[in-house]
Amino acid sequence: MKLIILIGLVASICNATPRHSKFPDDFLFGTATASYQIEGGWNADDKGENIWDRMTHTRPEVIKDGSNGDVAADTYTNYKRDVEMMRELGLDAYRFSLSWSRILPNGLTNKISEAGVAFYNNYIDEMLKYNITPMVTLYHWDLPQKLQDFGGFLNPDFPLWFESYAKVVYEKFGDRVKHWITFNEPREICFQGYGDVSKAPILNATDVGTYYCAKNLVLGHAKAYHAYNNLFKLSQGGVCGITISVNWVGPLTDSEEDQYAAEIRRQADWGLYAEPIFSEQGGFPKEFSEIVAKKSAEQGYPTSRLPELTDEEKDLVRGAADFFGVNHYTASLVSATEYKNDYPIPSLYADVDVGSYVPPEWLQAESAWLRLAPDSIYNALTHLHKKYNGPTFYITENGWSQALEEGYEDDSRIKYYRAALNSVLDTLHAGVDLRGYMAWSLMDNFEWMQGYTERFGLYEVDFSSEQRTRTPRKSAFVYKQIIRTREIDPYFEPDNRTMWIDEGH
Ligand code: NOJ
Repeated sequence: MKLIILIGLVASICNATPRHSKFPDDFLFGTATASYQIEGGWNADDKGENIWDRMTHTRPEVIKDGSNGDVAADTYTNYKRDVEMMRELGLDAYRFSLSWSRILPNGLTNKISEAGVAFYNNYIDEMLKYNITPMVTLYHWDLPQKLQDFGGFLNPDFPLWFESYAKVVYEKFGDRVKHWITFNEPREICFQGYGDVSKAPILNATDVGTYYCAKNLVLGHAKAYHAYNNLFKLSQGGVCGITISVNWVGPLTDSEEDQYAAEIRRQADWGLYAEPIFSEQGGFPKEFSEIVAKKSAEQGYPTSRLPELTDEEKDLVRGAADFFGVNHYTASLVSATEYKNDYPIPSLYADVDVGSYVPPEWLQAESAWLRLAPDSIYNALTHLHKKYNGPTFYITENGWSQALEEGYEDDSRIKYYRAALNSVLDTLHAGVDLRGYMAWSLMDNFEWMQGYTERFGLYEVDFSSEQRTRTPRKSAFVYKQIIRTREIDPYFEPDNRTMWIDEGH
């Protein structure tokens, strides 16, 4: 009898599908950065001013250490060293963004900067020399100031401005760039920049800023997507998507109220941007739209603060993406009744009106909002996979911050990356079409309102040295080993601190 049970047990273990233990050979491993955070050269050649130049120069007190991105990691001069670091890590891909006002100093296409175009040509060519796939974001938060002077994302002409910028970019770089991302993190652009004061242009239009911006952003995205599809795709053969920040939001308890609360919070955090593009019905998320419409009426607004998309607009936006880029960092648990905060009324999170809880046992990074939440990549991506009918995904950012004095020893970052990449393996195993993973970040950089006080780099940057010397941290060696072997060895320890380039890179 015992023997039969034992045989049964062994058989069932053997039959169980083995956990994915290796990353596929064609899975793209990379790192990510953004123009304003690394480039410097803020007024090099004929580059125009952008909203971060303006804000950090006129309101330095809003940045924690009063710093700015004038020089940053000086990639404008050091781009060859950046590519050398990519080769050291053995990257398959590198995600970076273009500075709109470096290419179009006035924001509009009446003037194209030759120097700006030449800089990106050099950067891209240097990557391609070593078989590193460039993944290019068109907009990572540095809007030309001239366009901000006309209202930026709130101007109804914004979608046209963005479309014409996108066409210039496809035209100039599309012979070599095959992965396009229109916008980085719409929530952070719209809520933090227009509905709050935590990103430029710190407009703080809490009632409508987020929503008007959301509408113009998704329309701008769709126009840029169709421009690529209609005018360039045939000859250039690339793909175009958008990157949305999707941190996992789960219910605090299994109660129906908490599950509904979590759903409303997800609709407000990322549904506003994902739903119009990736859902079958199109338009802004249903329940959340109803909530905002009802509250707006009670508050005496003539129409909903969240504008509707017309049927024509819905059609333009629906399906306008070849892939879903996900920036993922952390998670929170949501309650219908507990842990509520006082948000300004009206505002995005007053409209959401739920509480949010983060278990204290989740390891805390230097950034206040960032914790290592178990299985959060798996939870977020399997959710999106089901909800939107299995689109293609890339994780376009994922990473961990440490305090600036922590130097080479970044064991908590290593712990985070190993946990995250195990969650990526689980996600692949669940059948999600996930094609790549970009670690944030290749090197330390200007962390927006936190200046240089929070460090996300696999490479440390010495911001006090003129060359902005870059030195690999321990996590760089660990990531290199994972990319090379396509698996996660939980015990791997680098022998010493000397980096090298493997043959063939
Ligand atoms: C997401 C943003 O895209 C990036 O610019 C930022 O530095 C990281 N999160 C870390 O906060």
